[in-house]
Amino acid sequence: MNLADYQRGCQTRVDAALEALLQAPSAELSHLYAAMRYSVTNGGKRVRPLLAYAACQALGGAPERATAAACALELIHAYSLVHDDLPAMDDDDLRRGLPTTHIAFDEATAILAGDGLQALAFEVLSDPRHNPLETEVRLAMISVLARAAGPAGMVGGQAIDLGAVGHKLDQAALETMHRHKTGALIEASVQLGALASGHATAACRAALARYAAAIGLAFQVQDDILDVDSDSATLGKTAGKDQANDKPTYPQLLGLDAARHYARALCDQALEALASFDARADALRALARYIVERQH
Ligand code: IPE
Ligand code: IPE
Ligand code: MG
Ligand code: MG
Ligand code: MG
Repeated sequence: MNLADYQRGCQTRVDAALEALLQAPSAELSHLYAAMRYSVTNGGKRVRPLLAYAACQALGGAPERATAAACALELIHAYSLVHDDLPAMDDDDLRRGLPTTHIAFDEATAILAGDGLQALAFEVLSDPRHNPLETEVRLAMISVLARAAGPAGMVGGQAIDLGAVGHKLDQAALETMHRHKTGALIEASVQLGALASGHATAACRAALARYAAAIGLAFQVQDDILDVDSDSATLGKTAGKDQANDKPTYPQLLGLDAARHYARALCDQALEALASFDARADALRALARYIVERQH
């Protein structure tokens, strides 16, 4: 399968839906909506939407069933980046090759844009006009995403991350931080795609959960690697920021080579978890490889 073609198709779908969701309903709100649009439509890789589409496809679901989930995941992700970049957090001024939202607008607008994106994600999942799936599927999606985004997931991970500045974490503690701050939303992406398919048996969901746990951790290990191993122009964000901010990372703990080896081992674990799936899971397989081979 050609991942680039698959990516383009999914991106076209999710980007059209996101664009429609981010139109200001009135002139007074045009500034807020401009900041929200800026934070979403600025060239992200769309990995979480792709995972949702690919999981839906792996279980035989039609792609349009996963579009609301894909939008909700990207809205939560974009909000997490806007807040992650704020001066009170990582204090970054470059994101996706452009000024971060608080630089392009201002800090208060960036906070509100993040808040707005988060709420919009749940509006999209819950409203049958956006997410025309069975009521119980919609409810299950809301529950999975709320848990992954909240204090037991991404927000919890961000709190651990801020608390860890200047501390040396052991591997178990670092893994816990990464599984929360990044893994949780990646795992939710796969689970939402599975739910969207309408064909998710408990056994399939368990196998997909093993796949997603492995790539969720691998994604942040690779993000840590790229922070030391790449440059700002390639990354579209400031390289070397983890060391500058005194953050514990996998390269710092294990060294660069061992961190790369670990990311590849996690990719192998993810592929093993898909052993019982047929060729419809090839996009998931390709995404696992992409996550540890990507250069930005
Ligand atoms: C960056 O995520 C933040 C992390 C969770 C590591 P991505 O690498 O998916 O960022 P975009 O969406 O492509 O910009
Ligand atoms: C971000 O981790 C995780 C989020 C929940 C946004 P990082 O702080 O490492 O992400 P980047 O490197 O700024 O994209
Ligand atoms: Mg951070
Ligand atoms: Mg950051
Ligand atoms: Mg990073």
